[in-house]
Amino acid sequence: MPERISAVATAPAPTDHSGILTWVEEIAELTAPERVVFCDGSREEWDRLTGELVAKGTFVPLAAKPNSFWCVSDPDDVARVEDRTFICSEHESDAGPTNNWVDPVDMRTVMTEHYRGAMAGRTMYVIAYCMGPLDAGEPKYGVQITDSEYVAVSMQIMTRSGAQVWEKLTQGTEFVKCLHSVGMPLTDGHADVAWPCDKTKYIAHFPESRTIWSYGSGYGGNALLGKKCFALRIASVLGRDEGWLAEHMLILKLTSPQGRTHYIAAAFPSSCGKTNLAMLEPTLPGWKAETVGDDIAWMRFGADGRLYAVNPEAGFFGVAPGTGAKTNPNAIATIEAGNSIFTNTARTDNGDAWWEGLTEQPPAHLVDWHGEDWTPASGTAAAHPNSRYCTPIEQCPSVAPEWNDPRGVPISAIFFGGRRATTIPLVAESFDWAHGVFTASVLSSETTAAAAGKVGVVRRDPMAMLPFLGYHVGDYFAHWLAMGAREGAQLPKIFQVNWFRRSADGKFLWPGFGDNVRVLKWALERLEGTAEAVRTPIGFVPTSEALDLDGLGAGYRGLIDAALDVDVDEWVRELESIDEWYATIGGNRLPDALRAELAALKMRLAEA
Ligand code: GTP
Ligand code: MN
Ligand code: MN
Repeated sequence: MPERISAVATAPAPTDHSGILTWVEEIAELTAPERVVFCDGSREEWDRLTGELVAKGTFVPLAAKPNSFWCVSDPDDVARVEDRTFICSEHESDAGPTNNWVDPVDMRTVMTEHYRGAMAGRTMYVIAYCMGPLDAGEPKYGVQITDSEYVAVSMQIMTRSGAQVWEKLTQGTEFVKCLHSVGMPLTDGHADVAWPCDKTKYIAHFPESRTIWSYGSGYGGNALLGKKCFALRIASVLGRDEGWLAEHMLILKLTSPQGRTHYIAAAFPSSCGKTNLAMLEPTLPGWKAETVGDDIAWMRFGADGRLYAVNPEAGFFGVAPGTGAKTNPNAIATIEAGNSIFTNTARTDNGDAWWEGLTEQPPAHLVDWHGEDWTPASGTAAAHPNSRYCTPIEQCPSVAPEWNDPRGVPISAIFFGGRRATTIPLVAESFDWAHGVFTASVLSSETTAAAAGKVGVVRRDPMAMLPFLGYHVGDYFAHWLAMGAREGAQLPKIFQVNWFRRSADGKFLWPGFGDNVRVLKWALERLEGTAEAVRTPIGFVPTSEALDLDGLGAGYRGLIDAALDVDVDEWVRELESIDEWYATIGGNRLPDALRAELAALKMRLAEA
């Protein structure tokens, strides 16, 4: 071990990978931590770090759940910060119009000054982790340096980490370098605060050197660098270069009453229903749904030409509000098993986490996400709308045994959805792969609390990847088209869905949640060639008779007819905003095939 690390390390480094050791030493010199800890991922380490977090006042142990902790963040550090997220590719044109770009040399210069001395008085943790099963053909490793105990324990839940990974990281093994600091040095005996962070924040990605630098935030999506930063932004670049896809998708296994199994993937923007669909409890008798992943899918072709999906994560970092025994019993059972962290939810007097939608009646008294007393008369939300639970996937009662299979699961259908009050029907099947890619390229949704900024504004969110693309969006579309053109490919069918269409009086037209299986059933029957559909200008749409609505009650049919409606006038208005979106992509990077798809859609709408 290099001398300067051994001087501050609490134990010998668990690796002789010289690339890691040199980098750790360089960062330790720059950030000047009091000590360096190489994380082993053990239960002892978890107990020690959670104990320290309790002592510091960051964590409150929850009496009502085993080995579980509650915490609140700084009120200005509650979500991903898209305006502080940067793709620092060598050429600006490679970041594309949807990303903030800064020259990598300039970014390194600016951030180096922020990092200088940033870990003073703190412990620097070095976390080795693997995205996806450890015995995968080409496992993807990351090493995260962080000065946050909260991050270190969260990474234990969210990734495969620790001793088992150090063992695999032999000399020369490639890894993604992830550097994170909360940006609050404890100089001159400064006391720590419960949630250290800095006003200035940077979430910077250097795609060419496979490096992530995050500064100033302790919040999940900004600080747990294996998740959005690596598994989506850097991995999307790896996928482009190596011929696979890194997507913001859940992975679900569905078995019909006849015992036929299909795996599906679905991309919805943040806070639009992935975790809920991934754990759905089908309301149709005899159907079984099992969870493979709830947020990210890495998909590559197998030897048989099918697209196989792997969940690179090991835990759920799920939106708490709206999660209840009725809407998502599997999520509730997962967190009931304990070993979980709750961030920015409320806390009950008997030591449990609480949020809007967990129970029908709120408790009479709570500590809210500001850490203040709360009663139903307070008139405010007790939990932040982006409050989250962090919990191990293995505890999920609906987890599929193959969630950890290094080969992944073969995908039969891909669903793209968003949160749209109008226009987009409950479900529509694409005519073919290129049409499906077009549909996904113009996917749109109303913004949610998952990212800082205004809520409820319709924006284009291609493939639900707008905040997570590591390169030019036009090149990304070309990559999707190229994947479909691969020789011998047995492509999944592509569908678009919208669980969130509303009536004129603002009510959801579709019951959603467990009833979404009715839509999935229709889609799988389309694959098998047994379901009816109407050809509309935007794709094949079922009539309400073609959907299995057994048990929903007669009153529902009218609402569902409205949810399925393809209104030509609404679509003609939609075209304007699609035109605007495509105009921002830039002439020579938008694939001709998509331009042709848009022209064909216009033609079909004009003739309708
Ligand atoms: P990220 O984890 O941020 O990527 O979001 P996600 O896509 O996993 O979203 P999630 O499943 O946590 O859902 C977020 C919100 O959508 C919650 O408030 C849910 O109650 C709500 N929701 C999920 N599914 C449905 C549905 O089928 N219908 C309706 N109306 N709401 C839903
Ligand atoms: Mn997500
Ligand atoms: Mn989720």
